[in-house]
Amino acid sequence: TSLDALQGLLENLGLEDPIPPFTSCDVLTRPLDIFHSYLADILVKIAYCEPQVAYDAIQWATDMNNGDLDVVVPKLRIKTTDNKELTRDLAEKFPQSSLFSLPLADGIHLRVFFLSKSLPKVLLPYIHDRKETYGIDTAAGLRDPATSSPDASAGTRKKVVVEFSSPNIGAKFEGAHLRSTLIGSYIASMHEAHGWDVVRLNYLGDWGKQLGLLAAGWTRFGSDELFAADPLRHLLDVYLQIEELFRPEQEARDKLRDEKKDTAEIESQGLYAERDGFFKKMEDGDADALALWTKFRDVSIESYRILYAAMNVTFDEYAGESQVNRDIIAEVEATLREKGFLEESDGSWLIDYKKHGHKGLSTAILRGRTGSTTYLLRDIAAAVERDRKYAFDKMVYVVKAEQESHFQRIFAALEMMGLADLRSRLEHVSFAKCVDLGETALLSDIIGTSQSAARIVIESDPDNYASFPATTATPTTADRFGIAALQVQEMLVRRNNNTHFSADRMVSLEVSSGARLQYWYGRLCAALQGATPDLEDLDYALLVEEDYTNLLRVMTQFPDIVQGAFRTMEATGLLTYLFRIVDQISVILEDEEDEEEAGGASSSVGARLALLESVRLVLRNGMGVLGVEPVLV
Ligand code: ARG
Repeated sequence: TSLDALQGLLENLGLEDPIPPFTSCDVLTRPLDIFHSYLADILVKIAYCEPQVAYDAIQWATDMNNGDLDVVVPKLRIKTTDNKELTRDLAEKFPQSSLFSLPLADGIHLRVFFLSKSLPKVLLPYIHDRKETYGIDTAAGLRDPATSSPDASAGTRKKVVVEFSSPNIGAKFEGAHLRSTLIGSYIASMHEAHGWDVVRLNYLGDWGKQLGLLAAGWTRFGSDELFAADPLRHLLDVYLQIEELFRPEQEARDKLRDEKKDTAEIESQGLYAERDGFFKKMEDGDADALALWTKFRDVSIESYRILYAAMNVTFDEYAGESQVNRDIIAEVEATLREKGFLEESDGSWLIDYKKHGHKGLSTAILRGRTGSTTYLLRDIAAAVERDRKYAFDKMVYVVKAEQESHFQRIFAALEMMGLADLRSRLEHVSFAKCVDLGETALLSDIIGTSQSAARIVIESDPDNYASFPATTATPTTADRFGIAALQVQEMLVRRNNNTHFSADRMVSLEVSSGARLQYWYGRLCAALQGATPDLEDLDYALLVEEDYTNLLRVMTQFPDIVQGAFRTMEATGLLTYLFRIVDQISVILEDEEDEEEAGGASSSVGARLALLESVRLVLRNGMGVLGVEPVLV
């Protein structure tokens, strides 16, 4: 993986000149940069331009039919009245090269293809030298020793806190919680793969008036027996019943509010009083109230822990609104009050954001009329608390887009407090809706639906899945297929588009799906049969066939694709890329199988094995970055 080794490899191809050096170019992690640099060098020689200008005029070809690299000729900044003419001229002058075939002049674009004869000779050793690090800049999360603070406690890795999932105790596990779980988990995996220290944090909705309402429900509908049998389902059941009972009171209150009449009286009676009274007791530390609440919370966490584990998700901390430090809450209020941002209105304490220069944000209450804290106040304090606890470089909140303005309020409040630096390290990663979830109300329903869809597909075609271990231990092969299916369905969609939950689709082998990804990864492993090919003296001649060449051309881009995914914290691009490889490899493996049956080409040719192994590495590494666990390892 050293520059010398790479240089040696290229010399074997007949490239006498050392790799031309360019800044912003990293030939040791991105093979595309090798081609990019040599192409720039050729342009310097035939167009007499500045090296960096030549380098910057080259871009990726967006469509593989149009080559691998694309020289945008006007960007070479050569004085000419006819750039098309110049392009044709450059194509003619383009020398014989061990890396490129002769380019195509296409308008003002010079379209350059990698030479299929040398591509495998560069790329296969390149990938095999790097193995599980191919494509992944594992040092991206390391602090630059030159610029990092001398403070030894800061450590050498950067730290990110990823807050995700965060369901509410006693309530439905909504599409938004599902998406947050899946997105948060790939964001955490991406950072881990890139060498960051990652703290996974679940900020449970375990505090607030709705817990008071749940308690009111418990006294009427709660059953210890049902709770023990299926805690999350029973709590939800209790909650739905009390909500039903509460609805008329709420409607009466909302009517008054809409008529701009006083709601204080109605809120001091009935279930309102019971709900708020219970929550007030919780906030005041009442032992009985807290005992009941603790029981709900502890058992819910235990249940979630098991469900998350089934999804390959673990949390380093089950935080929650209830756990936010009281002293820090008081500190936040004191600072805001001191600086004149907190004002009293009608018994509650609020910030009038508009008044303080935040035009898009309206008034928000921090402490309510009954003296209890709000969601907003707890969140502001939680940010301060986590910063002190973890000293993170970045914290990502993976929360639905509907809470955009809530996060704007948190961030604005931190700025008001004089914590601009903390604010600059916070990011709200938002997402749109998950639709078509149907009757599912709990995470266990969602997991169950996905896994049984996988089971049905596998059981209906056992021969096809023969290479997968038929284990009866949990998680079974079908269980893992189901989870990958769920993950991949989320990752196929950009965060700000809606996802459509469809159990049938996620396990179909005919479309891009988690099942398809796992299936072909498995077929590839089966074809390799554990062979680790020796790259000495391979006969690469076989690999010039178009199917193989195209696969190699795609694999060259892998590091750049991973980098893009990490930068944008979007999985779509990387996953779509992995499916391009899956599509290609499925054709190759099936063709080979047909040929074998017809008594054709021997399948043990070393070069072919080397290619398959590097395809496997790319798929494996890509899945690793996304946190998708291969069923066949
Ligand atoms: N429990 C909240 C909900 O279900 C999500 C929490 C989001 N995180 C936060 N720091 N506010 O809507």
